[in-house]
Amino acid sequence: MDAVLSSVVPQPVATRLTKAAIFLVVTLEPGREAESAVRKLCADLSGLLRAVGFRDLEGGLSCVLGIGSDAWDRLFGAPRPKDLHPFREIRGRHHAVATPGDLLFHIRATRMDLCFELATQVMNRLKGFVAPEDEVHGFSYFDDRDLIGFVDGTENPVDAAAVVATIIGAEDPDFAGGSYVIVQKYLHDLAAWNRVPVADQERIIGREKLSDIELDDDAKPSYAHNVLTSIEENGEPLEILRDNMPFGDVGKGEFGTYFIGYARSPRRVEMMLENMFIGRPPGNYDRLLDFSRAVTGTLFFIPSASFLDAVTPDAAPVPAAEVQLEADQPPSRRDGSLGIGSLRKGASHE
Ligand code: HEM
Repeated sequence: MDAVLSSVVPQPVATRLTKAAIFLVVTLEPGREAESAVRKLCADLSGLLRAVGFRDLEGGLSCVLGIGSDAWDRLFGAPRPKDLHPFREIRGRHHAVATPGDLLFHIRATRMDLCFELATQVMNRLKGFVAPEDEVHGFSYFDDRDLIGFVDGTENPVDAAAVVATIIGAEDPDFAGGSYVIVQKYLHDLAAWNRVPVADQERIIGREKLSDIELDDDAKPSYAHNVLTSIEENGEPLEILRDNMPFGDVGKGEFGTYFIGYARSPRRVEMMLENMFIGRPPGNYDRLLDFSRAVTGTLFFIPSASFLDAVTPDAAPVPAAEVQLEADQPPSRRDGSLGIGSLRKGASHE
């Protein structure tokens, strides 16, 4: 691990899949009070998490906080994470819509009550300062299957490989330990999907439905989901970490998959989306999209946990790279503090 990254603690991005999750997307109300409230929450989040999570240590409660592009400017100003931008809609054979979102809370645990309690505490802190955009309560369905009946998550990188796929290192030293995430809420036409013969469904996904075994390369069409989402650079595979969850509302006939893809660069997820929605080559699109419609799409930066802990109501912390440079100075040049807590005024509050 490089020197810059070793000085910061990431948020719990690279974790194993859980049984329950809440995906909460909100937008910030105008005004400085709202910005202060969010900055205060940034610093308090680890304490809130400890308070709720300690009530059931087996529950594995975690929370990842993401910040949207416009919100970053309001909350922290310069410097900015180098690849942070609003989600770019894609119009191909199908449409990947872009929808609003300033903050994302991705709350995971083995039990929904833990997720629900933390989401409640978070929203109590932000009451009056944010407007809810979307809230999805996801559950694990049988053997980690989507509601379309296929196991989802099999080819995810795990442990060190998950860290390499998701956590920023020397490529953006100010934001080492951070990550990016793209979320999309998909609604399925399950009746239409279930009319497709299983052998055709398997060719659309690229795996066997019951056993979850990957189809042989020569049995996979070029439009299979796992072909179009396999990307590489200079012959090396570029991986992302997904923690998709089923959700639904039986009364309304709503059956969905909440897609969440973490990566150290948003370009990875964007390349996969272009392959799915436009096609590789163009026209050779992902047939899953004939049955699943993206109704949201938002991109967030995930600052490191060290960054969040050091935020104050009026100030953003000094970037990780500057902290590292300071730590590299001889002792006589240091100011005696731990550095990571040093303060910088938020851009809009100078
Ligand atoms: C309706 C939404 C989606 C559903 C139901 C879905 C379902 C699945 C399933 C069943 C698999 C095979 C098992 C596995 O390896 O996890 C898979 C693989 C994968 N999906 Fe999706 N997916 C969806 C959207 C997306 C999106 C939007 C992306 C990226 C932008 C994506 C990226 C991937 C990747 C990278 C793999 C692994 C490919 C491999 O290396 O074999 N998926 N997905």
